[in-house]
Amino acid sequence: MIDKNIVLVGFMGAGKSATAEVLAVKLGFKRVSTDEMIVEQEGRAINDIFETDGEQYFRDCETRMIYDIAQLRRLVVDCGGGVVLKDENLAILKQHGVIVYLQTSPDVIYERVKHDTHRPLLNVEDPIKAINDLLSERVACYAKADYIVVTDNKTAGEVAEEIIEILNRH
Ligand code: S3P
Repeated sequence: MIDKNIVLVGFMGAGKSATAEVLAVKLGFKRVSTDEMIVEQEGRAINDIFETDGEQYFRDCETRMIYDIAQLRRLVVDCGGGVVLKDENLAILKQHGVIVYLQTSPDVIYERVKHDTHRPLLNVEDPIKAINDLLSERVACYAKADYIVVTDNKTAGEVAEEIIEILNRH
């Protein structure tokens, strides 16, 4: 079967992590997460990185992780929601990867993330506005993915199956 990396992009709360876990098992691939790689390499939480060094520093960490990931094959890559912001990241990931955008509506995103505190961009007074603003800023970036799967009202298993069907068809 496919010998590339399967790269999951999408907004916070889209279900990338849960889908990546199921998909990796189904495909027999290894799962990696850009967020987890950064936390491990930096030895601190994402909130701390944003607070101490700012978002740009975090974005630079992401790009470094992506260069590392692009050396490897047969990975399911769970990307942080902002990885798509840099064309450079997408270009590197596309060299040996298929990019799948997990598309989720703002209401579903809010329901999924409303009790979480580990996402600095949503730890704000009006998270619903933040979700809508960020989504509209990013819509064009997510659209650069190779394929789109809508995740509203679907389990991680269902989303993973849809991705496998797409991979088998192409
Ligand atoms: C971010 C998404 C987060 C994490 C960081 C920034 C974003 O990852 O990388 O808080 O800019 O959308 P998840 O999408 O896995 O929550």
